[in-house]
Amino acid sequence: MAAEPRPLVEMRGIVKVYPDGVKALDGVDFDVYRGEVHALLGENGAGKTTLMRILYGEIRATSGVILVDGRRVSWRGPWDAIRSGIAMVYQNFRLVEGLTVEENLLVYLSSLGLPRAEARRRVERVVEDLGLSVDMDAPVEKLPPGARQRVEIVKALSGGARLLILDEPTSNLTPLEARGLFKLIGKLREKGVAVVYITHKLREVVEVADRVTVLRRGKVVARVSRGSEGFNEERLAALMVGEVPRPSSPASRPLGGEVLAVKDLYVAGDDGSVRVKGVTFTVRGGEVLGIAGVAGNGQEELVEAIIGLRAPLRGYVEVLGRRVRSPRDFYEAGGAFIPGDRAKALSPELSVAENAAFIYYTASRALLLRPSRLASLFDKLVRSFGLKAGGPSTPVSSLSGGNQQKVLVGAEFMRGFKLLVAVNPTQGLDVATAAFVRRLIVEAASRGSAVLLISSDLDEVLELSHRVAVMSSGRIAGVLARGEATPERLGVLMGGS
Ligand SMILES: Nc1ncnc2c1ncn2[C@@H]1O[C@H](COP(=O)(O)OP(=O)(O)O)[C@@H](O)[C@H]1O
Ligand SMILES: [Mg+2]
Repeated sequence: MAAEPRPLVEMRGIVKVYPDGVKALDGVDFDVYRGEVHALLGENGAGKTTLMRILYGEIRATSGVILVDGRRVSWRGPWDAIRSGIAMVYQNFRLVEGLTVEENLLVYLSSLGLPRAEARRRVERVVEDLGLSVDMDAPVEKLPPGARQRVEIVKALSGGARLLILDEPTSNLTPLEARGLFKLIGKLREKGVAVVYITHKLREVVEVADRVTVLRRGKVVARVSRGSEGFNEERLAALMVGEVPRPSSPASRPLGGEVLAVKDLYVAGDDGSVRVKGVTFTVRGGEVLGIAGVAGNGQEELVEAIIGLRAPLRGYVEVLGRRVRSPRDFYEAGGAFIPGDRAKALSPELSVAENAAFIYYTASRALLLRPSRLASLFDKLVRSFGLKAGGPSTPVSSLSGGNQQKVLVGAEFMRGFKLLVAVNPTQGLDVATAAFVRRLIVEAASRGSAVLLISSDLDEVLELSHRVAVMSSGRIAGVLARGEATPERLGVLMGGS
């Protein structure tokens, strides 16, 4: 595949610093040849999407160069990229609801300047070439995710795409739909279309990729081709998570009694499918139990059941001997929760102090608070947690991601707790804030709280946890004690092999 002298696309020395100071990419070189499936592998937050949004012209690099067909380009926006033959299919598709498949295709192609008849011809040719079955008259919102994705791919190719970027393309697909996608990717390769396949799933890389570039914390740490020695799940897992410095062990003091007990838990997801399948574990006072695993293997449903938000199908959750059947039970038993999704946990229309009050006092009482109480909460966040914000009434939506996280974490920590459930607590934070939040977690455990840490950042899990449980396909695939948990062994468990 790489016999050609010149790559279709080259990116050199790409640096991206987001406005809030997060350095997402730090000097990345990346290239793609015609007809190759090039996997871009990395953990959550490694910078994969950022790199491809830059190539797609959606955001600008802070510095660095892009060449297409050997010529330097500078996109003003995605349309420039699309006209050069680069298209991107997002995790959550971007078709226009309310329109049929055909209307979606035609609207897109006409905005590329194609006359209707020509547009129709192109679509037909692509559909036929790839041997797809596409219901042109179906309203797009009626289509299952796999079919929507096919429409996106047809759309891109009819628009002249020579390079297709697929961002975590199987994240919304059933295993059967994923099979279909892999077949389709094989056909694209035969037709000479280049594919950048963004993923954090090792198995998919081994399945579809000709070449893989591994990104880790904004840097390329490896490039491996199919057929070479390192092209296997185990080695790629190790590259993806990196060498983990053995941190000073988290306090080896004796642990306290059982704080959280999860027993034979079965939990269904929104679609009714069983997502958690017979999970049992306990966490004791003073202990940090890490749960590692590729996102989407039941962690979300497990967490929701633990905090009382989702009723289990079977089994139970107890905090200090009390059954948890609602979030109220969870909080009253001494639970605290740091959610993985800041955007959902904070109310953008409320101020910094109001948001903190909602967390600290619970919503019903927060509404009755006087400004003086709000101001003192705010002061505490500034003093104890290093919050940087204009004042108590600054809208929380105007804060950087790191400062929003300080509001969330700070207010929760001020309440005090016996059990902390933290989901990706440092995601998207700058290095200093992330270290600060990790220290708070370690300190909470050394004061005797139990901590359940669910994180897709393996380094973080390994650094903070006394034991690491790996979740895969709704089950605990294994539990490793601190000394035994190496990235290789975890990677293998995560891969489900
Ligand atoms: N729009 C944004 N503003 C600020 N930070 C961002 C933005 N998008 C991504 N980031 C941060 O940049 C880093 C890389 O993110 P991303 O490219 O989405 O990684 P990946 O796709 O590998 O999961 C993360 O720390 C993330 O929080
Ligand atoms: Mg991404």
